[in-house]
Amino acid sequence: MTDDERLRVGTEAHYLDAAYYDRAYARRRDDVRFYADLAETRGGPVLELGCGTGRVTRAIAERGVEIVGVDRMEPMLARARERVAKPRRVRERVELRRGDLRSIRLGRRFPLVIAPFNVFMHLYERRDVERALRTVRAHLRRGGRLVFDVRVPDARELARKADKVYRVGQVTLPSTGRRYHYRERFDYDPLTQVQTVEMAFVGVDDPTDFYLVPLTHRQFFPQELEALLHYNGFEVLEVYGDFRGEALDETHDAQVLVCRARGRR
Ligand SMILES: C[S@@+](CC[C@H](N)C(=O)[O-])C[C@H]1O[C@@H](n2cnc3c(N)ncnc32)[C@H](O)[C@@H]1O
Repeated sequence: MTDDERLRVGTEAHYLDAAYYDRAYARRRDDVRFYADLAETRGGPVLELGCGTGRVTRAIAERGVEIVGVDRMEPMLARARERVAKPRRVRERVELRRGDLRSIRLGRRFPLVIAPFNVFMHLYERRDVERALRTVRAHLRRGGRLVFDVRVPDARELARKADKVYRVGQVTLPSTGRRYHYRERFDYDPLTQVQTVEMAFVGVDDPTDFYLVPLTHRQFFPQELEALLHYNGFEVLEVYGDFRGEALDETHDAQVLVCRARGRR
């Protein structure tokens, strides 16, 4: 497999089973509340880049705010469509578009652009980051905000040996009801700063029912992220370490950035 193929597979595989995605992250609620509060305070319409299954999209629409969600993975969008289908007042506030956040142009501007839950960790090279930030600039209204979160790279986690398998427990696939032993392996390339998480599913009743799901994430070190934003025309206004508004420090594993486009106050 070439590096490009590895990155493409690692950007898609985890998002093919949208029902499993929703089950896996069902307990993740703090970020949903944070983005919904933000949308309510700042007002809409909101542009959500990488809206996935609509976890955050729906919550924002429920607060009475219009939202456009963009994602490149059809299975995720199909689940998002179901999620916002009812009631009608929610459905009418949501527009879902299939597209690549590095190139999509909607021909309108928004007071708030968000990319919740590690979406930008799928921007592997400088050019990807530049293209994504150009998309944001093309859609931000004067005085608007870009708000997104990515993980803080953790040196100890990145140093995990690639041949060590972590046994996490058992999971049930919602689509088939089958149970699997779930294992993870981590492989970090310090030159590209891309970490591959290899998720292995081994059937509890039938070990020949076995498959691997890779997930590739670009790691962004905090100073590097600020520099990328700065040199692409953004000013970082706030950096939180969680979704309750605590300032980022060394105890946090998320970096939540609130930015504005320089020269577009
Ligand atoms: C971890 S999920 C987050 C989904 C959603 N924001 C949430 O909070 O649940 C990352 C999403 O980003 C999408 N994505 C990754 N790269 C993308 C790109 N270049 N253009 C559009 N969507 C992308 C994936 O398809 C996936 O749905």
